[in-house]
Amino acid sequence: MQEKIIILDFGSQTTQLIGRRVRELNTYCEILPYNKFPYGDESVIGVILSGSPFSVYDSKAFNVNLDCIRGKLPILGICYGAQYISYTSGGKVEPAESREYGRANLSHVDARDKLLRDIKPGSQVWMSHGDTITEIPPHFHTIASTDSVVNAAFASDEEPIWGVQFHPEAYHSIDGLTLLKNFVVTICGSHQDWSAESFIDSTVKQLKEQIGDDKVVLGLSGGVDSSVAAVLLNKAIGKQLTCIFVDHGLLRKNEFQNVLKDYECLGLNVVGVDASSKFYSELAGVTDPEQKRKIIGKGFVDVFDEEARKIKNVKWLAQGTIYPDCIESLSITGTTIKSHHNVGGLPEKMNLKLCEPLRLLFKDEVRDVGRKLGIPDHLISRHPFPGPGLAVRILGDITPEKVSILQEADDIFISNLRESGLYNNVWQAGVILLPIRSVGVMGDERTYEQAVALRAVTSTDAMSADWAHLPYELLAKVSNEIINKVKGVNRVCYDISSKPPATIEWE
Ligand code: XMP
Repeated sequence: MQEKIIILDFGSQTTQLIGRRVRELNTYCEILPYNKFPYGDESVIGVILSGSPFSVYDSKAFNVNLDCIRGKLPILGICYGAQYISYTSGGKVEPAESREYGRANLSHVDARDKLLRDIKPGSQVWMSHGDTITEIPPHFHTIASTDSVVNAAFASDEEPIWGVQFHPEAYHSIDGLTLLKNFVVTICGSHQDWSAESFIDSTVKQLKEQIGDDKVVLGLSGGVDSSVAAVLLNKAIGKQLTCIFVDHGLLRKNEFQNVLKDYECLGLNVVGVDASSKFYSELAGVTDPEQKRKIIGKGFVDVFDEEARKIKNVKWLAQGTIYPDCIESLSITGTTIKSHHNVGGLPEKMNLKLCEPLRLLFKDEVRDVGRKLGIPDHLISRHPFPGPGLAVRILGDITPEKVSILQEADDIFISNLRESGLYNNVWQAGVILLPIRSVGVMGDERTYEQAVALRAVTSTDAMSADWAHLPYELLAKVSNEIINKVKGVNRVCYDISSKPPATIEWE
């Protein structure tokens, strides 16, 4: 049985990061909505309560009865999680005199407490809360303070419960990983046996059981996620898997042919379907980003359904959905940032059951699994590319002409990045076709043509990203080449927004 930590999500922006950090400790964890604790699951070794956008007094605050867990499993409350434990155990939570946000340093640390082992006074922590715990509950004691937050961390005298008002998962909390390790390993007793190899072994076994003799179709996009999902499934069920690679007409230049060639070497059974005219006609005149995503999501499923019907006994649709896709799309606070096409765009009624073997992995873990499965590095190190493709990089309506302009510009940017040796230094890069025209001059002629924006970002998980500080010489070369070679474009801009507050894609 794979031991696991459960992270109960009270809606914080950093809940996913807690998950990533626990996985960095080679410990399997699952993030579940705050009220969906898997009672009866004996593989759970500890529970973390996340932060929340709400105050404990908020009428919309998430409340849950922890009685069934308390005393039985170690619990660590983070920020709201800590305040919630305190508030529901008889402590006092009040609005802080000033919002406690940003860096702070621990001034007092109780070194005898297991949670704080190897953490010294002076250690920098990251705070982000409007309320503060002014009185800890009876039978609890303070184990760390900062100059302005007396109860920065506390522990119960009687039960295995800890609370920290700072965010150990944030990279700015210098000893945050040590604290999490103390909780996960020392307190909860994790054996730290979660690894790419153990994931492959257990997933292959599960897939064999889940699928039996059924047949599976998988949507291949050429990206890392669907490639890894395909190879994993191929290992589990071999010939029962048919991979379908749909050309929605919104891929990069020559991507369809290149990807088909790439997959030959992996021994996958791949069917390439050119459905570009279907997608172009369904997208004609559509300008709303969410509508574009939904149309493309549904279009994919239509094509799969149709292809699947040609193969007998297909019961499953496999997808390379990964963890951030699910969490960003299905936030418990109800704010959908973007519907990722392979999650939010699925129609209610589908003729196939869903199989998503990477659903619980973060991107870097997917790459690790891919390497261990023997997928060549040039496929693994490919930049992420969104499922809806260039549709979300053409602002406004989509036409084949615009796609072709964008493909040319994108090809120039990506080729130059590769030639400069910087391709692997950025997380993701691409070009956006802007719905504006501007005046230029070429030779003696006045031009009135479109503008494009170059986007290149650095990131570790796409949850946050910074614009890549590419050399001016490279940007100048790309700009020159695009304006000289791509008919219809006379202006090139560079996007210098980070995420948040922007996102990586423009739509
Ligand atoms: P954003 O724009 O939300 O993008 O900052 C985060 C990462 O997700 C990719 N992305 C998608 N991937 N289907 C996908 O498979 C989608 O609908 C989708 N939308 C965005 C994006 O390219 C970036 O890597």
